[in-house]
Amino acid sequence: MEHLVSPSLLAADFTNLENEIRMINRSEADWLHLDIMDGVFVPNISFGFPVIKAVKKVASKPLDVHLMIIDPDRYLSRFCEAGANNLTVQYEACTHLQRTVTEIRNLEMKAGVALNPHTPVSLLKNVLPCIDMVLIMTVNPGFGGQLFIMESYNKIAELRKMIDEAGYNVLIEVDGGIDTTNAAKLIQSGVNVLVAGNSVFNSADPVATIRKLKRLL
Ligand code: DX5
Ligand code: ZN
Repeated sequence: MEHLVSPSLLAADFTNLENEIRMINRSEADWLHLDIMDGVFVPNISFGFPVIKAVKKVASKPLDVHLMIIDPDRYLSRFCEAGANNLTVQYEACTHLQRTVTEIRNLEMKAGVALNPHTPVSLLKNVLPCIDMVLIMTVNPGFGGQLFIMESYNKIAELRKMIDEAGYNVLIEVDGGIDTTNAAKLIQSGVNVLVAGNSVFNSADPVATIRKLKRLL
């Protein structure tokens, strides 16, 4: 399967958001990744519903929304109304994960579960049939521009094996410290979706960087 690229808007120029989104629209990006942080689950606050709704008006790509918030169940339908196409919750923030992902699917969004670097992939074994995507955090969530954690390769390999042996149709997405130097190895390890913030938006030519991440040779 051809891999997908989901640039993270967190690294965009927020004074120039419309142009940044139009740049993504004309690029080879597949999705647009939106990081929602509540200042409780992670030590940072990003943006919320008014911004997502404004982004939705301009974006032509599906919105890939990553919730780094506690108690996400309170807001699932509001993220749907705001325009989310994929909704990913953090494993560590969900007490009744199976119910949460089922509700996301009932709202006709793709359901994703994100794992912090310390959370083993084996914990997802019994929920894999109920989800569309696993997001392996390759940094500790909360900030863009951090260093990729090398142990992530072992987690990806283990998860790839779990998914393939059971025959599930679940995508593996990676997020944090992804750039053109590690992307090819990640895809070879079995990743389906690359999230990239700083390496795209802070590059000299973001459209060309997205093309490079898409066409890894
Ligand atoms: C981190 C976020 C990431 C972040 C990635 O908590 O989940 O999506 O924006 O940024 P880079 O690619 O700069 O590490
Ligand atoms: Zn993210």
